[in-house]
Amino acid sequence: MRHLLSPEDFTVQELDQLFDLAADIESNMGRYAHVCDGRILATCFYEPSTRTRLSFESAMHRLGGSVLGFADASNSSASKGESVADTIRVVSCYSDICAIRHPKEGAAAVAAQFSRIPVINAGDGGHQHPTQTLTDLLTIRSLKGRLSELSIGLCGDLKFGRTVHSLIHAMSRYANIRFYFISPPELRVPDYITDKLREMNIPFEEVIRLEDVLGDLDLLYMTRVQKERFFNEEDYIRLKDFYILDEEKMRLAREDMQILHPLPRVNEISVELDKDPRAAYFRQVQYGVYVRMALIMTLLSLKAE
Ligand code: NCD
Repeated sequence: MRHLLSPEDFTVQELDQLFDLAADIESNMGRYAHVCDGRILATCFYEPSTRTRLSFESAMHRLGGSVLGFADASNSSASKGESVADTIRVVSCYSDICAIRHPKEGAAAVAAQFSRIPVINAGDGGHQHPTQTLTDLLTIRSLKGRLSELSIGLCGDLKFGRTVHSLIHAMSRYANIRFYFISPPELRVPDYITDKLREMNIPFEEVIRLEDVLGDLDLLYMTRVQKERFFNEEDYIRLKDFYILDEEKMRLAREDMQILHPLPRVNEISVELDKDPRAAYFRQVQYGVYVRMALIMTLLSLKAE
């Protein structure tokens, strides 16, 4: 039995197969409409989510399966003091596969230890968010035609942004990747990640001003400042509007640069950019459904007829 706790749980070759499957799903949706007939996905969400949870639900419904779960820890037995280990033991009796989101780092790994069904980490605190990364990689592969030879800017809350951490790990496995980390000094990428990049000889630059590197990028991954992970509201208020990408700044960017964002957006991308052909963040949401369909099929070892 396999789980997805980190994007590195799949080899690069396995990821290629997953993305090929997702691309086939995109072009032949009808072929996959009954692949999960009779199967049940559980969504156990101890933290707020719109996209990720609904994306999983949509993916399972589009495969013909059904969904149960909870969207709020206060509505679950967690509020009575039940442990994640016990909850997953119970959920294993009700469903065939489980997506779990939890505010604590490592919670999905604990669930996987006690589970009889495949567990998908749908976000564990500020740690990782592998299915967002699968979404990001499929989007990049589809829009740029490759996952290597890319200059990628990541901008915003690089300290608490779990999508950022997972994406850096995942992209580090492809050839000739260069990272630009654009953040205020307080929200830099954690040292354990930059140390690993140094060890692997992967080039990266840390800058404060977006304008200084915007013209060098193939991709810009914008992120919101992660309000819920701040200890102190004053710091959040001071940093929340540090970056606002607008039409004027976008004049510095290449014609073929793509803007990605895991969403939700707050103020960091001005809505005037939504009509810019380089704004890829809503297409990215659509790729998220295809890749989650492919992931559910892969973890349940199911194939289209
Ligand atoms: C992200 C998350 O939950 O980490 N959202 C998502 O799943 N697309 C990003 C965020 O909340 O900023």
